[in-house]
Amino acid sequence: MLVRLDKFLADRGLGTRSEVREILKKSRVRINETVCRDGAVKMDPLQDRILLDDCQITYEAFRYYMLNKPAGVITATTDPHCQTVMDLIREPRSNTLSPVGRLDKDTVGLLLITDDGSLNHYLLSPRKHVDKTYEVTCAKPFDDTMKQALEQGVCLGGGEHAAPASVTLLSENRIHLTIQEGKFHQVKRMLHAVNNEVIHLKRIRMGSLVLDDTLAEGEYRKLTAAEIAALCQGLERS
Ligand code: URA
Repeated sequence: MLVRLDKFLADRGLGTRSEVREILKKSRVRINETVCRDGAVKMDPLQDRILLDDCQITYEAFRYYMLNKPAGVITATTDPHCQTVMDLIREPRSNTLSPVGRLDKDTVGLLLITDDGSLNHYLLSPRKHVDKTYEVTCAKPFDDTMKQALEQGVCLGGGEHAAPASVTLLSENRIHLTIQEGKFHQVKRMLHAVNNEVIHLKRIRMGSLVLDDTLAEGEYRKLTAAEIAALCQGLERS
């Protein structure tokens, strides 16, 4: 795959095309040890070694970040009134990134942010049955009847039904709940259906991806190569 050098450098976050032109004019870029001042030159991101000053610019087809979403921030790319999760991602070209799925404004925890549209689609597809695990703090003690009902599947109202879920009791009022769907306010509606209420909701896992508990709420980091490989297993790219 050959791409123009100026496009490659701009896509890697070095600046706009005109900023990249200035960098090139100053002879700061080398392709395989040869200085290149022409942005129109075609290069192969997978084969050629590109250096800016002495720093190698590596190729990444897509970008993947894990955000520990704080409460009070909405899951959207832009909003005229509220802070969005994308306002927390301070990366070049962050407008090409988007969150995978949606967490409510008051929900905290794991949110994957990527520009990999195929993975986004795959993780959200109901047919792929990707697990999402939530740590749920309930208003009332969580009993066996509630557990059995959630494990069998409950009626959410409005003609909607939640498929059987997995439940692990953590303490009197706290559970881990694993579901494979992503209906609107699903976990809150499931707890409501068993005569309980959610008072705190945190997503801790999506597919193979587990929330990094060293990330404070509002912090994010890049996924590791192993995390990306595990998430993309089973994904067929067209
Ligand atoms: N279920 C909910 O009710 N809210 C969320 O944010 C996620 C799942």
